[in-house]
Amino acid sequence: MARVFSGIQPSGSMHLGNLLGALRNWVAYQNEHQAVYCVVDLHALTSAPDPAELRQSTLAAASMLLSAGIDPERSVLFVQSAVGEHAELAWMMECTVGFGELRRMTQFKDKSGRSEFVSAGLFTYPALQSADILLYDTDLVPVGDDQRQHIELCRDIAERFNRRYGDTFTVPTHVIPEAGARVMDLQNPNDKMSKSLDSPGTVGILDDPAVVARKFKRAVTDSDNEVYYDPVAKPGVSNLLGILASATDRSPEAVAEHYTQYGRLKADTADAVNNLLAPIRDRYLELSAEPAEVVRILETGAARARSVAAATLDRARNNAGLIPRPSFHSPPDGSDTGTKP
Ligand code: TYM
Repeated sequence: MARVFSGIQPSGSMHLGNLLGALRNWVAYQNEHQAVYCVVDLHALTSAPDPAELRQSTLAAASMLLSAGIDPERSVLFVQSAVGEHAELAWMMECTVGFGELRRMTQFKDKSGRSEFVSAGLFTYPALQSADILLYDTDLVPVGDDQRQHIELCRDIAERFNRRYGDTFTVPTHVIPEAGARVMDLQNPNDKMSKSLDSPGTVGILDDPAVVARKFKRAVTDSDNEVYYDPVAKPGVSNLLGILASATDRSPEAVAEHYTQYGRLKADTADAVNNLLAPIRDRYLELSAEPAEVVRILETGAARARSVAAATLDRARNNAGLIPRPSFHSPPDGSDTGTKP
């Protein structure tokens, strides 16, 4: 059975791009594969979020994954910082990736260009992401198109480590959906839909149905009133076609054949999206009443994740020449309590 791993940042609220680009594949994969999914709170620290907000959004992200259909009986669901092996292997990844490779990452260029303070963590972000993936002997990484470059870098890191130190890591492959891999902002269809940018062109998974309908109604298109799929020449219309195709499991070209007017296309896309979101919103409301249950699921998930991650980290440490960790046993009589006399 193939092992699947993916992660999502807890910053901001989840949006339609996350759902169509990633989460729907996460849910599909848990039936056929061993799936491990993670809320990556350490990655969120790269932008120094408010501590209370980070705490709240970490649990909200986990609740959202459960609401979107992640089943804790079939998948391992946990929070990254609960499994210390991620941060430790990240250091070994930083020592394996090149400065020039990190400098070429387009996400780093975008995000650092927008921030006043650029942390070293934002720069080494893909090393931590590689640690996330490699700790679980991952075969497949379901992500949206914007993560392609990070997963390709992770493959290079794994291969370099294996060449240096002998066979240690499984080299993973990204899985990117045909439709929905790059959901664009409804107001700026040349920018991808993003949760960190507060835009009226972002459709939140928890948006009210009337708000969703309004956002689609106001979506930016163009003035030539012809419906066909061409993301370069017609980014706005093609984005709508891509969303409707993904929401109804068709190709954008096949969807385009049914439309001659932008108005109908917008209304049908809004309806299809609302149909997709309605059950997720309902489950999210139910789960909000049971925060302790979400915490319990995450604790169980962290214990299961750690048992895999610890074995992989030991293998990596050993192959790289780090001597085994001493095991600290208390003496049977309990005389050494560790406190000073
Ligand atoms: P994040 O939190 O930005 O996004 C989570 C997932 O949603 C996808 N996505 C999109 N797909 C289509 N259209 C969009 N507009 C859109 N916006 C986001 C992303 O591609 C992603 O799959 N670095 C990662 C988190 C991460 C990770 C990992 C992923 C950390 N460790 C290990 C995979 C494996 C990130 O910031 O995703």
